[in-house]
Amino acid sequence: MVNQQWPIWMAPLTRSRAMQPGNIPTEMHAEYYAQRAHPEDGAIAIISEATPVCPEGHGYFATPGIYTEEQVDGWKKTTRAVHEVGGKIYCQLWHVGRVSHVSLQPNGNAPVSSTTTLGGGKTYIDAKGTRVKTSAPRALETAEVHDVIEKFRIAAGRCMKAGFDGVEIHGANGYLLEQFLRSGINDRSDEFGGSLENRLKVCLEIAKSISSEIGADRTGYRISPISGELEGGRFDENMEETYASLAIGLADLDIAFIDVVESFSVGVREEGLDAICARIRKAFPGGDSKLYLAGGGYTRESARAALDSKRCDGVIFGRDFISNPDLQKRLRENLPLTPWERRSFYLGGAEGYVDWPTFEDESEGA
Ligand SMILES: Cc1cc2nc3c(=O)[nH]c(=O)nc-3n(C[C@H](O)[C@H](O)[C@H](O)COP(=O)(O)O)c2cc1C
Repeated sequence: MVNQQWPIWMAPLTRSRAMQPGNIPTEMHAEYYAQRAHPEDGAIAIISEATPVCPEGHGYFATPGIYTEEQVDGWKKTTRAVHEVGGKIYCQLWHVGRVSHVSLQPNGNAPVSSTTTLGGGKTYIDAKGTRVKTSAPRALETAEVHDVIEKFRIAAGRCMKAGFDGVEIHGANGYLLEQFLRSGINDRSDEFGGSLENRLKVCLEIAKSISSEIGADRTGYRISPISGELEGGRFDENMEETYASLAIGLADLDIAFIDVVESFSVGVREEGLDAICARIRKAFPGGDSKLYLAGGGYTRESARAALDSKRCDGVIFGRDFISNPDLQKRLRENLPLTPWERRSFYLGGAEGYVDWPTFEDESEGA
């Protein structure tokens, strides 16, 4: 049994190492992803770092986009390298909405959102990692919301050109789609605000247009049905109903997987989360499609337990994949993990990015 594959996926991880100017992925991205892409030792599939679909979608310095030809060509290096080792990679499509700063926006404009209310929180705006408060947003006009939906569709088409196996729509962690979804943020009175049905509209329209562009079997969606009290103003008056309804809407579109961020830290599960997850699981029951991926604070033991109990079809690991390119092998064979280091998460170069050894490398070096 020891050698049987575990369905371990690599989580989307922003590392802020895109080439400037132009926010273009490089050879180093290709090396980094390929190191983690071996389906027997590394990830069964990788979700790329969050990738803005348009210039307004950026909220942090040096995040690689997918809206120019140069970026598409840059990503081709990564998809080629991943496929060469037999791996699979989905592009995480991103729009940060109000989680941005004027200095990262075209012409120094205000970031856009569902609302004019400031989200709180900080971002980094340059290569030195200077941290500043996010800027006050401008609410998108109704016609502009339709444009955003279109930008996601076009970006998904570009992902196919770049050689990705599919896309994951970033609907989690307080960014634009969540800014439309949650009742405590969305204060609009047009067709995209008010009722739950209206708040779901952007999320489902994006999923629908991407599915028709590239195929539902190539489309996934990330959600985080947790309160996110850490960053102010992410309230929803009925988390369970909101997220269960979204999951049902996505399942009706027949998308390939839902990726559920269940927590930000090891061993912490918010009250009410189990009920939400159970309803999402019902909509995404697994099998050959409609996979439920669980992530956030998982360990070897909790991942194994979740898989054995069939609570999910795959477990998605983030930070442990940064410092353990052969994470699946280490989990499966109960080998020790190399601890990650926060200081090399974002910005910088090769150090802390492409220099993490596999267990085999470590043993040979010892
Ligand atoms: C350095 C870093 C970058 C991240 N970037 C993203 C991202 O681009 N998109 C996303 O959806 N989540 C992002 N996350 C969240 C992770 O995907 C994951 O949900 C989180 O790390 C919890 O999982 P873990 O306990 O396995 O690390 C990031 C987390 C970290 C630590």
